[in-house]
Amino acid sequence: ILKMQQAYKLSRLYALLDKNRTSESCFHIRLGSNFPIILDLFEKLYSTHPYKKEAFENLIEILINRHQERSEEQKKLDLHRSKNPNWYSSNEIVGMMLYTERFNQNFKGLEEKIPYFKKLGINTLHLMPFLDVPESENDGGYAVRNYRETNPKLGSMEDFENLAKNLHQNEMNVIMDFVLNHCADTHQWAIKAKNGDEKYKEYFYFFKDRTIPDALEKTMLEIFPDTAPGNFTWLEEQKEWVMTLFHHYQWDLNYKNPRVLVEMIDNMLFLANKGVDIFRLDAVAYMWKDIGRFNQNLPEVHTLLQIFKMCGQVVAPGIAYIAEAIVAPEEIVKYFGEAEAEGNECDIAYNATFMALSWEAIASGNTDLLRKSMYSVPKKPMNTTWINYARCHDDIGLGFEDKLIQELGKNPLMHRLYMLRYYCDEQGTFGRGKRFMQEPNGNARLSGSMASLCGLEKALEEKNDFQIHLAQKRIHLQHAIILSLGGIPMIYSGDEIASTNFYYYLNESDKKHDNRWLHRPMMNWDIAENLEKYPIQKSVFENLKKMISLRKEIPAFADNNDLEFIDSGNSHLLVFKKTDKKGEHVWVICNFSEYETTFPSWFIGLNKKVKNLLTDEQFSLQYQNFIGRYDVLWLTLST
Ligand code: GLC
Repeated sequence: ILKMQQAYKLSRLYALLDKNRTSESCFHIRLGSNFPIILDLFEKLYSTHPYKKEAFENLIEILINRHQERSEEQKKLDLHRSKNPNWYSSNEIVGMMLYTERFNQNFKGLEEKIPYFKKLGINTLHLMPFLDVPESENDGGYAVRNYRETNPKLGSMEDFENLAKNLHQNEMNVIMDFVLNHCADTHQWAIKAKNGDEKYKEYFYFFKDRTIPDALEKTMLEIFPDTAPGNFTWLEEQKEWVMTLFHHYQWDLNYKNPRVLVEMIDNMLFLANKGVDIFRLDAVAYMWKDIGRFNQNLPEVHTLLQIFKMCGQVVAPGIAYIAEAIVAPEEIVKYFGEAEAEGNECDIAYNATFMALSWEAIASGNTDLLRKSMYSVPKKPMNTTWINYARCHDDIGLGFEDKLIQELGKNPLMHRLYMLRYYCDEQGTFGRGKRFMQEPNGNARLSGSMASLCGLEKALEEKNDFQIHLAQKRIHLQHAIILSLGGIPMIYSGDEIASTNFYYYLNESDKKHDNRWLHRPMMNWDIAENLEKYPIQKSVFENLKKMISLRKEIPAFADNNDLEFIDSGNSHLLVFKKTDKKGEHVWVICNFSEYETTFPSWFIGLNKKVKNLLTDEQFSLQYQNFIGRYDVLWLTLST
């Protein structure tokens, strides 16, 4: 390995001397510079492992081969993005996440809808898992059977490549889920392991009896306690336990074996070469488990992610990585890389605490907890950003911090129960949510579509125009915030046309036990293509479209680590300031109350003339200024 290191150092030196840098010489520079870092990280995890040398040598060979395989177009894009490493933080990026099949059947169907995305202003698509999975029992695609094949229902790998090319020609990016904590129990590795192949048994965690599982369970969270209790599955034929944190058919990969890490890096780079721009690294918090240690966010997880990232940097530096870790703020920022690893881990993470608290603030009509929590989020490194979202395919976990709720004089459990009753329409309120994974004390997570949680489903049923109006305002509020907070706004497909809950899943035997399918609707093209006939949905769509196009013109909405929350003194309001590189400010003022309220002028200046970018309206700031129910203002100083 030392000889290899010297060779790559030398090739780096030669490459540095090359005046007309080609993508080849740039690759040698990257490999030569990152080799020692990757080696160090590898040593950290596997210094005494018997497969260390073999796995590491294999890894370096993979990096070289995968780079050679990369197309000229991709190499060009890599170099272009290396010069603009923060490309994903631009205010011009607007994302949408969708299930290919539910949206328009398959990859080809998706291609046909490029004009639809363009009309709305979407230029970054997060395609929900699309690799080969078993027909049923696949957790919405999160149980991968083959990392090198697509789900045939959606099309072939070639169809995916064509889709990616077509999207790129239209200046759009592709985000793909890389499910790396576990694979399906029907993956080749799992099948070989079931057949007793020792090499592949070491790819998973097998146990002859309950001694170690019982010890591990003491510090393990249960992810689906209702539908998949416990973290281990008994294999009757093999008479052994296997570790399965999620469902019984999702087998946890054993990253303590360096062969697993190398195989998975190879899989990721294989997919990178098919045209992926951003990888969403799924369920990363759980990638390392140990007896006596809480099984989330262990330091080894960060080392693993740094190896993924550094290998990606060598082969395909244009690719960015999202950490899908739905964890507390002080833990989530660690996924951006800490200390010497700052900037060498994930580039993007989910702003999950903000998302959950935005729903809490709507239910409370009050932003105290939201603001308090935001003040306690540690600063993230430069060149990293958030995915800002209001809804996604998962439930809403009420995972905000007990301590902060207590400091506001509230009982954490009571407050969560209040919120659940509120969104599940149990106190005459408007939400049509459903509890997900309820615990014995009543605490639960929450399912439901944005429109139904905002009251549209109930209001439409009751033909209550005023409530319809309020629901539209709440949807507008959520979208206006994620578009202005700085980061990648991720619209959840269907929310742009205010899709309400989708109850059909109750008829599907493999889905009816998982109410997350309530908010995974089939795209309603009758509505989307005939908006004239549907004025409510039309107004949601048009509003969103207008805000997206405005966002793209406002450089302050890029993420330059400039977000500042302001305590306006009015508990109904969330106020924040965004500043562009030239020092121009935009103040975003959001009213979380169902009633009109006022905001002060001091944080901008009394008598200052401002313009609301959303309406073009100009006015001079008074001592107190009015803001309508659930309204959002994007204010700049008017010249
Ligand atoms: C992530 C996904 C979720 C899935 C889980 C297991 O959290 O968002 O839908 O169930 O990973 O892969």
